[in-house]
Order: sequence, then C-alpha cells, then structure tokens
Amino acid sequence: IFENSELASFTVANEIAELIRQRQKQGKKVVLGLATGSTPTKVYDFLVRFHQEEGLSFKNVVTFNLDEYFPMEPDSIHSYVRFMREHLFDHIDIKKENIHIPDGTLDREEVRDFCQEYEAKIKAAGGLDIQVLGIGRTGHIGFNEPGSSLNSITRMVRLDRVTRLDAASDFFGLENVPKKAITMGVGTILAAKRIILMAWGEGKSDIIRQAVEGKIRESVPATFLQNHENCEVMTDLAAASSLT
Ligand code: F6R
Repeated sequence: IFENSELASFTVANEIAELIRQRQKQGKKVVLGLATGSTPTKVYDFLVRFHQEEGLSFKNVVTFNLDEYFPMEPDSIHSYVRFMREHLFDHIDIKKENIHIPDGTLDREEVRDFCQEYEAKIKAAGGLDIQVLGIGRTGHIGFNEPGSSLNSITRMVRLDRVTRLDAASDFFGLENVPKKAITMGVGTILAAKRIILMAWGEGKSDIIRQAVEGKIRESVPATFLQNHENCEVMTDLAAASSLT
C-alpha cells in the first residue's frame, strides 16, 4: 500500500527498468505483458522519462498487450493500439516487430487462429517475465469477465455490462462501446513469471478487498491471482481502504 499512485507507479517502473538493464547486460530479451486504461499511465510516463533522461533502451524488450476491443480500428481514439503508441511506444526505442496487441480488425473467422498464434508467440518469446495488470469493477483482469475459467487462454469475449458502463463516457455513450473484445486468458496471465496488479482510488476499494481477501472464484476472476507464487497487488491508500 503506497501513499499515492505516483509513488507506486515509480516503484513498478523501476522494477521493470531494472529487469531491462539486467537482461541487457546478459544480452537477453525481456518479455512484458502490458495493460491499458487509466491505471498504468503513470508507469508508462516514468518509463518514457527513464528513456529520455537516463537513456534506458527498450531494444531488448518484447511486449504483449492484454486486450483490444472488437471490432476496433487501430487508429481509432478508442483503440488500445493507439493508446499504447501515445502513452509509450512512440516515445521509446522499442522495435516495431517486438510489439504485439490483439487485432481488432480481424474477420470473425480469423479470430480463433489469431488467438492461438498469440499464445504461441508468447511461448516462443520465452513467456511473460512481468505482467502488469489493472482491475475492473467486475473483478476482471484483462477482459476476463466474471465466469472466465482458470485455464482460459487468448480468445474473443463478451464484455460485462458494468465494464461497458464504465467505458461509456470515453465512448460518448453506452451504445458506442463495443460488446466484445479479444483478451489474453486467465491461464495466459497466470503463466507469467511475475504479476503486478495495480489499483488506485476509492472506486476500486471494494473489488480490491474481494480480489485479495475473498474466496477464489470464477465470479471474481482476479481472485485467481491469489494462487500465483509471484504476484503483488499495489494500491494507493484509497484503493486499500476496504481491506480488513
Ligand atoms: C486494460 C485491461 C483492463 C483494465 C481495467 C481497469 O488493458 O485489461 O482490465 O486494466 O478495466 O481499467 P482502468 O485502469 O481504466 O480503471
């Protein structure tokens, strides 16, 4: 529990930067699982700053984003491709071919193969070294909504109404929020060697309490993280305020 999200984000960004530097010395890659949304933006701000001010290079970094709305064009203001470019990728020296984000432009019949390939690419890269997560008010991680199973993998999902309501103002109305998304599965996330879930603000306090202290269950997918051997939840004071 950190005093504020700035301090917590700095800690997360530092851990990522440290791993990147360590692997660089060994001539090895780092594989990062990344999230979008309001939660990780300060982490990305710090990483950009480390690149610009301290010369941290991302040439040995491979990234896999958790999810993308479906359908979604990459240049849409709502697209997670655009989000990642604006918050991180356009400001660092990551190689284009090392960036992976679920494709919201596929034809429906192409989705299954794409998802299998996404899983295969993560494995071929050596698996996720660090997976960064936010949490939705439904308890979703990625877009694994209530009902997602422990072993789920990358797939097309239907978004929960609460998730769509939370996105409605960004989309200028609920009717504009996509009903579906492509997301890494709970199983994909749990296969990461290290997981960092972040949550800020009072609006997340109830779901953080359920995720951390509640019974492990499909109706709150974030509870599956309790069994991961290297997962940390980082909150500000407000998001931790309902913990007992
Ligand atoms: C985003 C993602 C989602 C968000 C969650 C919280 O890639 O996978 O699980 O992390 O919906 O969103 P924010 O951070 O906007 O509160």
